[in-house]
This record gives sequence, C-alpha cells and structure tokens, in this order.
Amino acid sequence: MSKKLESLLELSKSIIHIENINALLDQLLYQTRRECKADAGSIYLVEEGKLRFSYVQNYTLALREENDRQHLYIDKTIPLNTESIAGYAASTEKTLNIPDVYNLPDDVSYHYNNSFDKATGYQTLSILTSPILTASGDLIGVIQLINKEDSLTFDEEDCDYIKHACDLASGAIERAHVSNETFMRMLRVAELRDPKETGAHVKRVGAYSVELYDAWARKQGISDSEIRITKDPLSTAAMLHDIGKIAISDKILKKPGRLNEEEFTIMKSHAAIGANLFSKSHLTIDRMACDIIGGHHERWDGDGYPAQLKGNQIPLTARIVALADVYDALISKRVYKEAWDEQEVLDYLAAQSGSQFDPELVELFLSIQDTIRVIRRRYQG
Ligand code: C2E
Ligand code: SIN
Ligand code: SIN
Ligand code: FE
Ligand code: FE
Repeated sequence: MSKKLESLLELSKSIIHIENINALLDQLLYQTRRECKADAGSIYLVEEGKLRFSYVQNYTLALREENDRQHLYIDKTIPLNTESIAGYAASTEKTLNIPDVYNLPDDVSYHYNNSFDKATGYQTLSILTSPILTASGDLIGVIQLINKEDSLTFDEEDCDYIKHACDLASGAIERAHVSNETFMRMLRVAELRDPKETGAHVKRVGAYSVELYDAWARKQGISDSEIRITKDPLSTAAMLHDIGKIAISDKILKKPGRLNEEEFTIMKSHAAIGANLFSKSHLTIDRMACDIIGGHHERWDGDGYPAQLKGNQIPLTARIVALADVYDALISKRVYKEAWDEQEVLDYLAAQSGSQFDPELVELFLSIQDTIRVIRRRYQG
C-alpha cells in the first residue's frame, strides 16, 4: 500500500470518532501539515458570509523564544470573494497551489494579504489552499498549508492529498455541526418551558466554566491543544446543567417563594433526570454532560445530592460548574430571591471553600474576576 494511502487511512481512523468540531479541524490541519511537509497551516471558517481566520499551527513561530502566542489569537475576517487567496479557493471551490505569494502572476484576481507576516515577522513563501465542503456540498471553510519544507513548492501529490483529506473530514465535520445544533435546540426547549431561567444565565454559566477550566488547566500544565478541544464540549455541557428541570412541574419550578421540604425533594430530582438523558452514550460530549448534570449539586464535603460524592470523587467538570452555577444564582435575581451584591457573593464562595466547593477552584475563580465581570456584562439577562 502506498504511503499516502496509508496516511489517509490513518487520518480517517483518527477523526471518525471525533464529534467536536474544534478537535476535528485541529487533527485535519496537523495531519495534512505533517504529510505534505508544511511548516505552518491555518483554517478559515465560513461565518456570516465571510471567512474567519480560526485555526493556526506554526512550527517556526512556536519554536521562537520570544514568541508571545499572539499569533494564535489574531482576530480577522476576510470577504468571501476572489480577491484573496483563501477567498478565491472558497468561491471557486478549487485547490490553489502557489509557489511564491510575493510573486503572483499578473493575470490572477487574488492578492496576498501580508497582514499575518507583518504582525508576526513570519516569512510566507508557498501556499497550498483547498476548500472544505460538507458531504452535501456546502462550503465550511478553507485550509491553507504554508511553506513547504526546504523552501520547495507543493506538488501534485500534495494537492491530491489535501483534497482527499478534506473529503474524508467532511462527513465528520457535518456530524459535529448537526450534533451541536441538537444541543442548542434542547436549550431552546428548556427556555420555552422556563423563560425566566433565561438563555443568558445558561450562557454565563457556560462561559464562566470555560474560563475556570482554562485557569485550572494552565496551572496543571495541560497542553494548549487539549485545552482547546476540551473547551467546546465543556461549554455545551455546562449550558445543559439544569436541563432536567424540564421534568419539574410549573407549580414548583416557578414558585415565587421558598420551596417546602417535599417540593425541594422533587426539585432535587432534576440532577439525576437530566444526567439520565445522556447516560447511554460513549461520546465525549455526552459523557461530559452526564458528569456535569449529575454532579453539579454535589458538595466537596459529601453533603450534596444526588449521590453524596465527596472531594475528587466528583468529576472536575462538575466541581467547576457547581461553582459557576451558584455564583450566577446568587448574583442574579430569581423568582424566589433578590440578587446579592458582588462582594457578598465572593465572600460566600470564600466561606464555602472546602465545604461546599473545591478549595483550589475557589481560589482560581476569585483570581479571574476581571474576566468573570466581562462575561457578566456581555450576557446580561
Ligand atoms: P438555581 O436557582 O439555579 O440555584 C442553584 C444553586 O445556587 C442552588 O442549588 C444553591 O446551591 C445556590 N443558591 C441559590 N440561591 C441561594 C440562596 O439564596 N442562598 C444560598 N446559600 N444558595 C443559593 P439548590 O439549593 O440545590 O437548588 C436547586 C434549584 O432548586 C435552584 O436552582 C432553584 O431552581 C430551585 N430552588 C431552590 N430553592 C428554592 C426556593 O426556595 N424557591 C424556589 N422557587 N426554587 C428553589
Ligand atoms: C461542537 O461541535 O461545537 C460541540 C458538539 C460536540 O462536541 O459534539
Ligand atoms: C492571509 O490573509 O493571511 C491569507 C492569505 C490569503 O488567503 O490571501
Ligand atoms: Fe441545578
Ligand atoms: Fe442553574
């Protein structure tokens, strides 16, 4: 079997089970770069009729001592037209192989936009660009491989390889989109049921959880790529934490005053009911959802519900969401309570460190308050 074919098989094996779109594109870029011997690569995704610069892997810049990682966060969109290289490949759905971006033929419509080179000091020479389409032919984005090793030019074989690789990935990419849409629909159903428990609360809990995870993971020295592929399912699963409340009657769910003991017992069933929706699956996102939904009312000291798990028996993701959820419940107005002052909330979290909450997470959460405040302002209820 030819080496290229073998490598395509390996690619398809490595992505077939990935249901998260970030993880997928990360793998696609990594494997095509390796196989075609490209120093760098990037992916643009179609967003609101434009191409957004979404992924970048750059071997040379990653090795640079003074590299401050800023190239990973370049925020730019380019129009979906034939004036740029990426735009050309996207609008014509053709693969484009350019030996030297600073010496383009006179008769082509596209120019090279050197903003990335300017911003980073990187020197781009050759680019191989290919559209990424879904199985049904919708344009998802564009992949670019940059700088063939040893200042060479990408060849026919590289063109074939990248086309096949994009074809292989398209089905998985489409599935990831569909699966994400399904989760968002579940959230919209919950919001119809309980409009007061707004989409804004759910988005805030998702975003706080991602930031707290990020702080935790960096402290542990977890790799950037693992952090990146965890954030997406974590955000989705955290947003689903109270999905089980759709099974609780209006009389209890929307009661303006305090719940009595019997009502509270019924209310507490939302954790197990929600977790059950995701329990029969081995997909990463479903397992994470199950952990979070089932574990978001457990307490560090073992006095929570439904399983009275204690300390590290509670999955990390559930410990994270527990903190994010209570923070948001306290700082917001609910049908049954007034909003607390920020300082009261932070004092409460500190006081509950080691009893209700994981002490390490409380410390981290208190240290990222600037970011937390930005999120609160961005998603106001
Ligand atoms: P929720 O409103 O999303 O609140 C999530 C968690 O935030 C609560 O979990 C609790 O740990 C914390 N929390 C919320 N308000 C307060 C508060 O005033 N003081 C303190 N110390 N903690 C607070 P919990 O207690 O397991 O409640 C789960 C869900 O049950 C709540 O979700 C809410 O939907 C409902 N619930 C709880 N108590 C009442 C109540 O008195 N009346 C009504 N109508 N619903 C309640
Ligand atoms: C996503 O693809 O954006 C989340 C859904 C998933 O991880 O399957
Ligand atoms: C870029 O703008 O950095 C990509 C080059 C292009 O596609 O025009
Ligand atoms: Fe809950
Ligand atoms: Fe909640």
